[in-house]
Amino acid sequence: MDAIAVAGCFRDKSILITGSTGFLGKLLVEKILRVQPAVKKLYLLVRAPDAASAEQRVFSEVIGMDLFNILREKYGLHGFQSFIQEKVVALAGDIIHDDFGLDTSQADALSKEIDIIINGAATTSFYESFCCWYARRLVTRESVQEW
Ligand SMILES: NC(=O)c1ccc[n+]([C@@H]2O[C@H](COP(=O)([O-])OP(=O)(O)OC[C@H]3O[C@@H](n4cnc5c(N)ncnc54)[C@H](OP(=O)(O)O)[C@@H]3O)[C@@H](O)[C@H]2O)c1
Repeated sequence: MDAIAVAGCFRDKSILITGSTGFLGKLLVEKILRVQPAVKKLYLLVRAPDAASAEQRVFSEVIGMDLFNILREKYGLHGFQSFIQEKVVALAGDIIHDDFGLDTSQADALSKEIDIIINGAATTSFYESFCCWYARRLVTRESVQEW
């Protein structure tokens, strides 16, 4: 499958992305928005105590990065903000919990809306215990399967 075909798969799709504040996650978000601006929505699940803090994290740690300058130049500052508002939704959650820590009504609504889940959330520390790492992988896999 070539790059154009891959980008085509994201057209008009709603994608839940975990780990977007991480090294690979922010590259992924930028790349999808750049190569497939017709993506329907990107739901970015980040660890935060509430929706406002999640939004703040997404804007300071993902969208606010220089990495997005190509898109800023393409749309202009105002157009870029509108584009991001239209496409990007921040969610407060944590992959160690069932349904990614979302409340039941939010999880139900999202599970109907989401077409693709990209799970980039991970602990990349070499010092974490194996059982914590394994439990996290298991819970995440179950949430993804249920959705
Ligand atoms: N970097 C590479 O070159 C590379 C190469 C091959 C494979 N990978 C794999 O790709 C994945 C991501 O790597 P990375 O380098 O982007 O890692 P990273 O920079 O350490 O980012 C990890 C991401 O996971 C999030 N996260 C961790 N625990 C979470 C939880 N419980 N709930 C929600 N989010 C959580 C972090 O959020 P916070 O900001 O809240 O901490 C962060 O956004 C890993 O599985 C890694 O093994 C990476």
